[in-house]
Amino acid sequence: MKFRAAILTELKQPLVIEEIESGPLRFGQVLVKIHCSGICGAQINEIEGAKGPDKFLPHLLGHEATATVQEVGEGVTSVKPGDRVVCHWRKGVGLQGPAATYTSKRFPHINSGWVTTFSEYSVVSENRLTRIPPDFDAEAGALFGCAATTAMGVLNNNAKLGIGESIVILGTGGVGLNLVQFAAMAGAHPIIGVDLHDHKLELARKFGATHTINSRGINLVEEVRKIVGAAGADVAIENTGLADLIEQAYEMTAAQGRVILVGVPAKSARHPSIYTLPLHFQKVLTGSEGGGCRPEVDIPKLVRLHQAGRLKFDGLVSKRYRLDDINEAIADLKQGRAAGRCIVWMDESPSA
Ligand SMILES: NC(=O)c1ccc[n+]([C@@H]2O[C@H](COP(=O)([O-])OP(=O)(O)OC[C@H]3O[C@@H](n4cnc5c(N)ncnc54)[C@H](O)[C@@H]3O)[C@@H](O)[C@H]2O)c1
Ligand SMILES: [Zn+2]
Repeated sequence: MKFRAAILTELKQPLVIEEIESGPLRFGQVLVKIHCSGICGAQINEIEGAKGPDKFLPHLLGHEATATVQEVGEGVTSVKPGDRVVCHWRKGVGLQGPAATYTSKRFPHINSGWVTTFSEYSVVSENRLTRIPPDFDAEAGALFGCAATTAMGVLNNNAKLGIGESIVILGTGGVGLNLVQFAAMAGAHPIIGVDLHDHKLELARKFGATHTINSRGINLVEEVRKIVGAAGADVAIENTGLADLIEQAYEMTAAQGRVILVGVPAKSARHPSIYTLPLHFQKVLTGSEGGGCRPEVDIPKLVRLHQAGRLKFDGLVSKRYRLDDINEAIADLKQGRAAGRCIVWMDESPSA
């Protein structure tokens, strides 16, 4: 089957949009039609080569989307043609098929992962798909692929946030704003959002931040302590991967507080330096892998919350783009112009 896709052909370069072709489905693979996909900070890191050289080039990208199943490969039992699904990067139920490969006129071999979403159609492994109701909001569904499930898992599983605990969320972008929303839902107080951009902080307030701090040119640790008290914050969630912020998150947290690292650090950047003794006395510093979320358990919970009107994404989707404009979306995200998540629509949307 032939369809259009955005391909990463070279690090630090715009994605190339062209027609690609998929072959027959293999065991455990599913062909889906992508409706819309979010752009996660993870893709910015991939494009920038944050983890070092990329041996898979050229390859496809994207790991959160809403889609409809078109065709299933041998062995697939959890989804069928016509099902509306969330495409997610965490493993869910079903088979793990081989990562799909594609061809195009210019590239005889294009790699992808078990899930990629920056294309009109995609061949996805069964275990990266979770069914949602047929009429479920496509943009909310896309966020359930990473941003929302990661945030939910970080609070539930990594931070184990309790009612009345103080929390600082460093970086209020796509994942951070979801963290703010869930922290408010979980009864944390105060909820402090930190970012470099006032328009993002304004949005953080709308989603439940009780305080916001623009971290440009200030002593962030002092400012946080003014709000939470000298003992420090119960929880700090770091969403930038920057050494300075990781160090500050560690410092601003209470003696027995929890620091959770969500942002992915660049391999070539300075690595954080911390005084580790507090870790001997129950202070916790840990990284998160997708919040340890379980798509088959957590996505249905998010669907119910959304249907009950408890989860809102108005404003969290900052701008909608067409596949042809995906490089503009990536630039908006990188340069901080997008307040929340950028959503790329592959098919018709009333709002695109
Ligand atoms: N651990 C995981 O499983 C997991 C899951 C999803 C995303 N991530 C990672 O989390 C990070 C955030 O992802 P996202 O999709 O929310 O990206 P994003 O770009 O939407 O958000 C990052 C936010 O950090 C802010 N920021 C950048 N530098 C800052 C600074 N010096 N001080 C304060 N704020 C600053 C930006 O303005 C932005 O609002 C990325 O590194 C991504 O790869 C990790
Ligand atoms: Zn992601």
